[in-house]
Amino acid sequence: MGRKLLLTHINVPGIQSYSVYKEQGGYRSVDKALKSMSPEDVVEEVKKSGLRGRGGAGFPTGMKWSFLAKPEGVPRYLVCNADESEPGTFKDRYLMTHIPHALIEGMIVSSYALGAHTSFIYVRGEMMPQIRILEKAIAEAKAAGYLGKNILGSGYDLELYVQPGGGAYICGEETALLESLEGKRGNPRIKPPFPAIAGLYGCPTVVNNVESIAATVPIINDGGEEYAKIGIERSTGTKLISAGGNLAKPGVYEIELGLPVEEFIYSDEYCGGIANGKKLKAVVAGGSSVPILPANLITKTIKGEARLMTYESLADGGFQSGTMMGSGGFIAFDEDQCIVRNTWNFTRFYRHESCGQCSPCREGTGWMEKVLYNIEHGRGTMNDIDLLWDIQRKIEGNTICPLGDAAAWPVAAAIRHFRDEFEWHINHAQEAQNRNYGLAHYADPLEVVTES
Ligand SMILES: Cc1cc2nc3c(=O)[nH]c(=O)nc-3n(C[C@H](O)[C@H](O)[C@H](O)COP(=O)(O)O)c2cc1C
Ligand code: SF4
Repeated sequence: MGRKLLLTHINVPGIQSYSVYKEQGGYRSVDKALKSMSPEDVVEEVKKSGLRGRGGAGFPTGMKWSFLAKPEGVPRYLVCNADESEPGTFKDRYLMTHIPHALIEGMIVSSYALGAHTSFIYVRGEMMPQIRILEKAIAEAKAAGYLGKNILGSGYDLELYVQPGGGAYICGEETALLESLEGKRGNPRIKPPFPAIAGLYGCPTVVNNVESIAATVPIINDGGEEYAKIGIERSTGTKLISAGGNLAKPGVYEIELGLPVEEFIYSDEYCGGIANGKKLKAVVAGGSSVPILPANLITKTIKGEARLMTYESLADGGFQSGTMMGSGGFIAFDEDQCIVRNTWNFTRFYRHESCGQCSPCREGTGWMEKVLYNIEHGRGTMNDIDLLWDIQRKIEGNTICPLGDAAAWPVAAAIRHFRDEFEWHINHAQEAQNRNYGLAHYADPLEVVTES
């Protein structure tokens, strides 16, 4: 059994409440940090842990914290990114729903480390049940003396607020999130300046993912070095993976980084193989924006080595034969799924979510969607495949924020690995129109939320 650090108590009845969470050892990291560690000590432990941001980019959390500017007399902010709108990703929602105090505890420890006295959890606007769960958890933590003035008599003050998001995927991009939090339209900002220098209200700000913040709890409890013992290379600790698509047991799993992808898919401890005894065709390993890989490349690298659930191993081979860990949204496609239809579906999403500030993204996503629609509906030509390739190349790297790349990569990878399917659609126009296409279901299979 793999070690669990975040979901250890997930099955304890009533763990959503403060009293049960506390009984299970909750809030020890706050006691420890505020009573016996300086903010710098906390940052140091997070650096030692090797924790990398769990929101998608995998940037080292301790390093990000150490970049935070500390001008005299200027407030600093910690903002938790709980916007989670990437298709296929539902792990933060799971954590917030079932163990909300793990996030609140992480927010207190992390805010203390950064010298923030006002912190925010920016939650995707559609997640009203989670917003209420978090608000209740904050009230409980405050009543217990873990929030507010002079926490545990340490002299440290912290107010924590939940902000419902603006209802757009782009509001998960950190600078768009800050704009939205300031009450404006969620348009990404041009960087630099980075949020560590000029973030919320122009003040130094750290934006971290829910899981990154929750991971600081075991790091402080057990020490950064202990945390770093789990995993391989620069992929330390555990990671939440939301597994969806055609898996026998879709759900949210906490894995030790370094687990072989094959074991994750086929072992009974995790996904239990492909549903209905079908064969695996392809996997999107880290949410809809990362390159799709065919079955032979997701379980083994091009060198024939076992592919592991690490940032490095998933990326092995670059975009020719590798992919990315991304946000941990693992979508499996069985042999009946149509790659063209899925690519069209993803692209439709990005076209809809483009904020429209930059032409390559605004025009390119719409153009790709139209071409994919034509191919999917039996109206494509062979030239369309090259056209698609050309459009995605012109979007990638030419936009203000990474949504442009996120829209380009799935199209590029689908053509790279499944060109024959695009050609089949073009050569079998009538059949393509009549066929009952497969579209893997990759929404949260556990979306039954109960507020206790
Ligand atoms: C279009 C877009 C959407 C994003 N959505 C999220 C999100 O929902 N949650 C998240 O944590 N990061 C998201 N990110 C990444 C954030 O910009 C940022 O890198 C992240 O919150 C940093 O946290 P971390 O260092 O803990 O990973 C998104 C990025 C882009 C470009
Ligand atoms: S890449 Fe797309 S979403 Fe990002 S700023 Fe440009 S237009 Fe907006």
